[in-house]
Amino acid sequence: MTHLSVNLNKIGLLRNSRGRNYPNMEQMAKRTLDLGAFGITIHPRPDQRHATYQDAHDLKALLAQYPGRELNIEGFPDSKFLDVVLEVVPDQCTLVPDDPNQLTSDHGWNLDRDSEALLPVIAKLQEKGIRVSLFMDPVPEQMALAKATGAERVELYTEAFAEAYGTDQQDIVNAQYQAAAQAALDLGLEVNAGHDLDLQNVSLLCAPGRIMEVSIGHALTVEALQYGWDEVIKRYLAELS
Ligand code: PXP
Repeated sequence: MTHLSVNLNKIGLLRNSRGRNYPNMEQMAKRTLDLGAFGITIHPRPDQRHATYQDAHDLKALLAQYPGRELNIEGFPDSKFLDVVLEVVPDQCTLVPDDPNQLTSDHGWNLDRDSEALLPVIAKLQEKGIRVSLFMDPVPEQMALAKATGAERVELYTEAFAEAYGTDQQDIVNAQYQAAAQAALDLGLEVNAGHDLDLQNVSLLCAPGRIMEVSIGHALTVEALQYGWDEVIKRYLAELS
C-alpha cells in the first residue's frame, strides 16, 4: 500500500486568483483527510503564488487534529523557506532544487555537486525531528549519495515516467524507476514519488510495492473538475491500496 499525500498548491492558486479565502485550503485539507488521505503536501514558492507560508502554519494546526497523518512541505531550502519549516515543524520536508521563478519542479538534486550544501540543512531539519526527503531523478547511482547525506527518504521525480506512460517506452522507463527505487531501498532509504502522476498511471508505478508515498496535485485537481473532489480522492485510495 502506498500512502497518498494530496498536494494542495492548485487550491492555493485558485484562491489567490481572487484575493478572498475561497476555496479555503484548510477546509479542503480537512475534507481530504476525512476521506482517508494519509497526508497533505504544499510547496510554497518564494512568490507564494500557490501555497503561502501562512498556509504552512494553518495546515500544521489542522494536522494536529489528525494523529498519525502527515504534513509534507516541499521546496528549495532558501533562508525564508527554512525559517518557516523550522517554525512549523512538518512531519516531512522534501528538499527540491528549484529556481525561485521556476514554473514547476523539473529536476532532482545532483548530489555530486549539491551534497555539501545540503548537509547542514538536513542536519538542522532533523534536529527538529523533521524527516527529510530529497527530490531525485531516477538514477540508481545517486542513491548512495542520497543515503550519505543522512536523508531518510528520496522522492523520485516522475515526469519522465508519466511522459512515457502509454507509449512504447513505458516498460523501459518504468524499469528505470523501479531500479532506482530498489537501489534506494537496498541502502535503507524509503522512497516517495511525485510529479505528473494521475489516476491512469499511478498504479503501474506503485504496484510493485517499492513506493511508500506519492504526492499528487495538478492532475488530481483537474480530475476533480471532471469527477468531483471526493470521488477522485476515493479513486486514488483504491488505486493505491
Ligand atoms: N513533488 C514535487 C517536488 C513537486 O514540486 C510537485 C509539484 O508541486 C509534486 C511532487 C506534485 O506534482 P503534480 O502537481 O504534478 O502532482
